[in-house]
Amino acid sequence: MSEKRAYQIEISRFLSTSPEQIFLYWKGRVGLYAILKAMGIGKGDDVLLPAFTCVVVPNAILYLGARPVYVDVNPATFLPDLDSIKKSVTKNTKCILVQNTFGLSHQVDEICGFAKENNIYTVEDCTHGFGGTYKGKPNGSFSDAAFYSTQWNKPFSTGVGGFVYLRNTKFKADLIEVNKSLIPVTAQKNFALSVLIFLNQYLISDFTYWPLLKLYRFLSKVGLVIGSSSGTEITSTKMPSDFFMASSKVQHRQGLKALKTLENDLQLRKENALKINAWMRENGKRNVDDGFIPNHSFLKYPVLCKDRAVFTEKATESNIQLGDWFNSLLHPVQGSLAPWGIADQKEFPVAHRASKKILNLPTDGKKYEKLQSFLEKNKASIE
Ligand SMILES: Cc1ncc(COP(=O)(O)O)c(C=O)c1O
Repeated sequence: MSEKRAYQIEISRFLSTSPEQIFLYWKGRVGLYAILKAMGIGKGDDVLLPAFTCVVVPNAILYLGARPVYVDVNPATFLPDLDSIKKSVTKNTKCILVQNTFGLSHQVDEICGFAKENNIYTVEDCTHGFGGTYKGKPNGSFSDAAFYSTQWNKPFSTGVGGFVYLRNTKFKADLIEVNKSLIPVTAQKNFALSVLIFLNQYLISDFTYWPLLKLYRFLSKVGLVIGSSSGTEITSTKMPSDFFMASSKVQHRQGLKALKTLENDLQLRKENALKINAWMRENGKRNVDDGFIPNHSFLKYPVLCKDRAVFTEKATESNIQLGDWFNSLLHPVQGSLAPWGIADQKEFPVAHRASKKILNLPTDGKKYEKLQSFLEKNKASIE
């Protein structure tokens, strides 16, 4: 059996589905684009999405000529509520993107139910939520299709990578047709990715994290290494010529390896996150409500900081591997979001405020005590 097939089988096992419903891509965003295209979404169509996401999400919509329509988030979940979604639906709404943010899914069944009643398609953005569950079912089990990411810092990583779980088989023939245009991965790209995966495994530690992260971001910005996003993806809404790329052998092999430890990794994240949550609650800081915990796989633990620059500096000194999702309504774009259809960010007050203050604590470390002592020392900086 090929490694590609074995990888699809392993993924399908986690999603309690069949490997025939799993489609692999070079990145998660490519999968999103493919599925929207297979749904026939294009000019004149609106796609609803959270105003607190990654810029590559509206990019996929814009590449197809459709219009992204943003919905502000609830401060407790960082996700749009069903009521806000209902208010944003227009006669042109063809699809609703239902995001899992930092591992949390909320109202997924209600949003998908509402969409179905109104002949609107749904796609779950489970890039943060593979391996987690919503109401006891694997994340991605409620919509017409779901897409996932295996980029760095995701539930499991293949360097970059992603896949689609197609639930509504009505779109299968169209998706297979769309996938015929996928660009094969060159030997050079395959090699570059395997080098990056190797370096990541052996060079990243608490001590090297910050300098290497800065170096990686710089090198990927200038196009010298395979990056999470190419320069043009964060500066324009034009599709890069090599965007629609297939998955690679290196990703299949690495994915199979990484999935072996996923269950343990998820458990560790949840244990750490619950300790962080208890600390936040004891100290009167923003925390996750008990009602959300069963539907949360805690890829990251977001905190709102009084002064983000200072908090980041302290974390660097203490060798804490902080994340900065979503430091923009459309992470990581800084400055004007007009090209993506957001003229005034203040129209989304909750997301706007959060984007100015948010940082994410790691949940995957084996040394929770170190994180707790950092939190104790910097208690006054956290909201
Ligand atoms: C919410 C969200 N959606 C989509 C993506 C895109 O995933 P990928 O980098 O695999 O294309 C990301 C990337 O981190 C994300 O955070």
